[in-house]
This record gives sequence, structure tokens and C-alpha cells, in this order.
Amino acid sequence: GKGEYEHFMLKEIHEQPTSLAQAIEGRIDPETERISLDGFDPGTFEHVDAVQLVACGTSYHAALYGSLALNQAGVQATALLANEYSVVAPPVDDDTLVVAVSQSGETADTLSALRQANRRGADTLTITNVVGSTAAREADDALFIRAGPEIGVAATKTFSSQAVMLTLLAQRIAADACGHVPADLESLLPDIGKMPDAIDGLLEESAADAIARDYLDSESFFFIGRGLGYPVALEGALKFKEITYEHAEGFASGELKHGPLALVTRETPVFAIFTGQEDEKTLKNAEEAQTRGAPVIAVCPDDHRAVEVADDHLTIPDVDSELAGLLANVQLQLVSYYAADLLGRPIDKPRNLAKSVTVE
Ligand code: F6R
Repeated sequence: GKGEYEHFMLKEIHEQPTSLAQAIEGRIDPETERISLDGFDPGTFEHVDAVQLVACGTSYHAALYGSLALNQAGVQATALLANEYSVVAPPVDDDTLVVAVSQSGETADTLSALRQANRRGADTLTITNVVGSTAAREADDALFIRAGPEIGVAATKTFSSQAVMLTLLAQRIAADACGHVPADLESLLPDIGKMPDAIDGLLEESAADAIARDYLDSESFFFIGRGLGYPVALEGALKFKEITYEHAEGFASGELKHGPLALVTRETPVFAIFTGQEDEKTLKNAEEAQTRGAPVIAVCPDDHRAVEVADDHLTIPDVDSELAGLLANVQLQLVSYYAADLLGRPIDKPRNLAKSVTVE
């Protein structure tokens, strides 16, 4: 049941410290600081020279996040919408690993892309929450995120776990295929272990309900981010439109000036996500929106320069830049939740949507 929470979505947002701890459990060897994945012996990914991630919706945003984590670890990777995969038909060979990311493991679009990859001779792997799901059975291998059941139609805790799982997988593929993991990722593994506590702290002190209330009357809601902040901007906007029914869009920060800026007015708050990747540029992009009258809500640590510039602030603990976006995402989940709640929306069952989409 929902226990003390009014909605499953809020309960599942609050479960993230636990679900993330479960995702990580036993998967980082504390002595060697190496990733150990059950059923994947060292060297399993030695031959992998390219990774294609396929997924839909929120899982696609996690896949995009994962593709960037793979690139940063030195592994060639692209994320593709599963429903575009058959027409894009990117070349695969037996050194291509195709990773299907799906909470349910039953999404028809994702299964179709997975089957196509299998037919074309790629190695396939699924990252899913559901043991025994179709994706888990049909892929060559499976990694389970162990998030526990997710009842709310809007995916929340499973996004965080998918992204962290992909971050671990990136390290592991880099270690097998490239023989090493880039040195600048050294603080990443210890910081992954700190994520459950970091989210706990964030949830206790979040100002998301006040922010949701203050900006509820706006016309449109924009989310911008760069690098790992970009998939978080897309996810922030998807969650917002799904459960509030208000118009929301996510953009790469640098793209604002290439068109969307025409939409920016004092009625379009801009949530700017800072992940420590060229933040000065994102801040400049946010200021360009602010000059046109848009209120800017900075999502970043307290001591970040953006706090002074922005009209409002949602705080995140200071962690490795590879993880900051996941903390920002939790704040944005809460903003969507409180906005939808104030609007009286049926949060756990938004109109026209189903938890698992079994048609193409
Ligand atoms: C968004 C949402 C959907 C799913 C998408 C893929 O909150 O829930 O966008 O993420 O339908 O579903 P799975 O991950 O089960 O393949």
C-alpha cells in the first residue's frame, strides 16, 4: 500500500535511497574498487567496441544518460529511441552490444528493437526491473535494477536506478574493453556509495513544494541542462507534462538561442540544471532567458555561482558531476509531484497513459 503517503508516486520518490542502495549492493568491490556484476566474469565485455542503448520514455532518458557515461569512460555509445531503431537501423556487428533499458521489460517498442538486434547478430543485454520479463528472457543477458515494484504510472525510482546501473556498467565495459577507466572518474565510485544518503538529505529539506506553488500559474515550463544535465532536463519536462497536463519542454542549454528563446517570456519559468559540465555556459544561457523576463530556478549545490544569479534555487548535495544530475532529477520529480497535486490531478494514473505500453 501507499502507507503514510498520499500517492504511490510520492512514496516511490521517497524510496529512492533504498532502491538505489539495492541497485548498488554487492556490485562495487570495496577492496579493488572494481565493478563486479553477478554472472559477468571479468573480461566479458572485452570485445565490445560500440554500445547502442534502446529504450522509450523515461527509460530512454536513462539510456541517454548512460550513453554519456559510457562516452566519458572511453566507450563508443549511442542512445536510440526504440521506436526509431528499425528505421534508423544503425550498423551492428558481433562486437556491438545492444542494451535494452526497460523498467517493465514488456514495452513493445523496446522488445521490437531488441529482437531486431538479436536477429542482426549483436550481443544483447537488458537492464530491467522485472525478473522473468520478456526482455529479460529474450536478451542474451540481463542486469536487474532491484528497485522493487513501481505502481505509479510516472517512472521515478526506476529512472535513478537505471542511470546508476548504466554508470556501473560503463565502468565495467571500459575496464574490460579499454583495460582502464579514466583517472578523472576516480571520485565516482565512492560517490555512488554516498547517493542513498545524499538523496535522503535532499528529500528532507526540499523546497520543491514552495517552488511548485510559486510558479503554478505559468504558461509553460522549460528545463535546460548540458551534458548529463540534458537527459535530466528532458526527464524533468516529461514528468511535468505527464502528471500536471501543463506544457513543458526540455532543451539542451545551448539550444535555447537556436529557436526556443522565441517562446521565453515572464510566463515561462526556466529550471536550469547544473552538473559541473561547462556550467558557466549554462548559466549564460539561463541569463539570456532571464533577460527576456523568465524566472530562472537554479538546480545546483548551495555554494554554486548560479544561486546568486537565479531567481530561485533548489539545492542538491555536492557530488561527482557524473551523479549531480540524478540528484537534480529528484528535485524535479518533487516539483512535478507538488504541481500536479495542487492542480488536483490523478497523479498515479494520468489520463491516456498506461504503466506498460504493449503495442507499437
Ligand atoms: C514515464 C513513463 C514512460 C515509460 C516508457 C517505457 O514516466 O513511465 O515514459 O518510461 O513507457 O517503459 P519501460 O521502462 O517499462 O520500457
